[in-house]
Amino acid sequence: MTVKKSALRLAKRLDEVGFSDIVHVRNKVMELRAAGETVHAFHGGEPFFETPEHVKYAMVRALVENKTKYAPSSGIVPLREALVEKLRVRNGLKVDIDDVLITAGGAHALYIAFQAVLDSGDDMLLFSPYWTPICDMVRGTQARPLLVPTSSARRSGLTRTLEQFSTPHTRAIYYNTPQNPSGVVFSRAEAEEVAAFARKHDLIVIADEAYEDLVYEGEHVSIASLPGMAERTISAYTFSKSYGMTGWRVGYVVAREPFMTGLRKLALYSVNGVSTPSQWAALEALSTPPSFLDDRRKEYRERRDLLVNGLNELGLECELPEGAFYAFPRVHTISKDSRKTATMLLEKAHVATVPSVVFGAQGEGHVRFGYSVPKPAIESGLEALAKLVK
Ligand SMILES: Cc1ncc(COP(=O)(O)O)c(C=O)c1O
Repeated sequence: MTVKKSALRLAKRLDEVGFSDIVHVRNKVMELRAAGETVHAFHGGEPFFETPEHVKYAMVRALVENKTKYAPSSGIVPLREALVEKLRVRNGLKVDIDDVLITAGGAHALYIAFQAVLDSGDDMLLFSPYWTPICDMVRGTQARPLLVPTSSARRSGLTRTLEQFSTPHTRAIYYNTPQNPSGVVFSRAEAEEVAAFARKHDLIVIADEAYEDLVYEGEHVSIASLPGMAERTISAYTFSKSYGMTGWRVGYVVAREPFMTGLRKLALYSVNGVSTPSQWAALEALSTPPSFLDDRRKEYRERRDLLVNGLNELGLECELPEGAFYAFPRVHTISKDSRKTATMLLEKAHVATVPSVVFGAQGEGHVRFGYSVPKPAIESGLEALAKLVK
């Protein structure tokens, strides 16, 4: 007799999709805090500052003016128009309004980008360590992520390494700069190499520019601005990190046809347009004076220097991250297993970090410190670490 399988099961394509490991760290931190303990919290990934007041008031104004109905599913026209100008001035991209689609944050932009272009059986190259959700998003399309180790690729040449890891089924490259979790910022020459590789092998590039405003050394290069790249790049952006707007859930994706038709369908059927008042607030965020971003960058840089110098003094070897707000020291002297190290740091020193293994095996032996925390918190975290490692 054949046993009939229960219908009460998940779709098979979710079998390979994991759930964020960072949640375990967050839960443990909450447990410690509930028990009245002080936790030196370096596990987060949010800006340290609040959303600017003028952006909050723009939301209030939108509500008072009853801008509360459905927005066009691709986003309100004034926001998309303003983004065309921002993309021209800041990113060097020549786009028109139909190339811009508003999304529910950068995560949604990336999700629909992968869904729009990847099929079962496709491979996608990505530099590793990588932002954790990427592999799960890619596996959700039934495509396969091919992990390219960033450090050795930079040492021995990006083109050579990409050639080595590529397969006949490679269809796309995920290109994130500045990078989470390593803080790596790819140089213009590196962007040109990746672009040349994509053109040579006829690949799509999915560019993640979430930290475009947080570059301390060098410049941010939008890969779509390089010759012959606009037609093969889908670029994902967000208001989250630049403007302290993680909870507002506004981002955007930039692409040409045939990709935009697919992206529009996916945005329509997943969220049917982003919260209308949030979009009016995002429009206001774009009028924030550049000095605001410059000042925040300066504050991040000071925090970075304080943390990275402190870690190196403690013997936790840490390269200077050139962008984003994460430091990624080697902690293999504590344990080769980063999960064990992170658990030990949390339990013995109440220092919360994220084990590098959640960002892919290529980063193993490290933990990620987010330095978007107040300077006194960095100082007290380093003191707690000193007691443990010295
Ligand atoms: C590399 C990277 N890309 C994209 C995002 C997406 O951010 P959001 O969905 O808040 O816009 C994040 C957030 O942490 C990130 O680290």
